Amino acid sequence: MIVVTGATGKFGSIVIEDLLARGVPAGEIVAAVRSPEKAAGFAERGVQVRRADYTEPESLVAAFAGADKVLFVSGSEPGHRADGHRNVVAAARTAGVGQIVYTSLLNLETGQLTLADDHKMTEALILESGIPFVFLRNGFYFDLYSDNIGPALEHGALVDASSDGRLSLSTRVEFANAAAAVLATEGHDNKVYELGGDHSFSLPELAEEVSRQTGRTIAYRNLTPGEYTEMLVGFGLPRPLAEIYADTRVGTERGDLFTTSDDLSRLLGRPTTTLADAVAAKLKELG
Ligand SMILES: NC(=O)c1ccc[n+]([C@@H]2O[C@H](COP(=O)([O-])OP(=O)(O)OC[C@H]3O[C@@H](n4cnc5c(N)ncnc54)[C@H](OP(=O)(O)O)[C@@H]3O)[C@@H](O)[C@H]2O)c1
Repeated sequence: MIVVTGATGKFGSIVIEDLLARGVPAGEIVAAVRSPEKAAGFAERGVQVRRADYTEPESLVAAFAGADKVLFVSGSEPGHRADGHRNVVAAARTAGVGQIVYTSLLNLETGQLTLADDHKMTEALILESGIPFVFLRNGFYFDLYSDNIGPALEHGALVDASSDGRLSLSTRVEFANAAAAVLATEGHDNKVYELGGDHSFSLPELAEEVSRQTGRTIAYRNLTPGEYTEMLVGFGLPRPLAEIYADTRVGTERGDLFTTSDDLSRLLGRPTTTLADAVAAKLKELG
């Protein structure tokens, strides 16, 4: 039995689709979700749907019953995940799960992002629990950056605060496919995977690629971390979250989101999407 938490989220739902596509029987998959009504589509296809809220320990123990493997998708509110994550690990231990696969963060030991704090605590709790584990230390999704291509075309500039720091991005789908590969195969107990795209690039290079493919001049405009924070607050983000995001830009310059590891393409069994292909896909979507 494979339990996937956050199964109504973007990452978790791709993982379940991938497991089904790999031939894992639907009845052997559990979609563990906060709102079962949002998982009706999975239930119709025979996937077991169980309620699991990170803030409700009893729901987690029940959701994890009989699990050989649990994919623990990290919560979606950076800085506010500690209590929920503690509950998930405790429940996995109580339920006696065979393996816990956790979506962590790239370069967790060497990086200094504020965002890493929740992940460091969670990895430590999992290690202490004695449950066989797999740490999927995911780099950032390309999707987070491609969302800025539309506005960049509108304003003639890609605005960020990462300077010329290099990013080993890959698509959300690829990180989720790697998680499914780990869940569907054996031999991963107590492994730590540093997951990033095969080809790193900087955001000025992203702007150049958009320029090349559109025939327009899209400049790269670099803000200071303070300016970037104010921009996000202006867009309506709560200030503490805007500060966490600005800190990821400082970390990018430091190299915290860069890796030379080929763990991701090895788990996928194929190279990761190139910058040119990822930009082309986004431009096609934008029409
Ligand atoms: N590597 C990256 O670039 C990157 C970027 C963004 C996020 N992340 C991390 O990766 C995770 C998955 O990404 P994603 O794109 O799938 O994000 P997402 O679509 O926001 O999914 C997050 C999932 O976590 C679930 N969740 C949040 N709080 C919960 C709680 N208290 N109890 C139970 N479930 C809870 C959500 O449930 P609902 O469906 O009910 O909302 C949702 O299914 C995120 O949560 C975040 O930790 C990574």
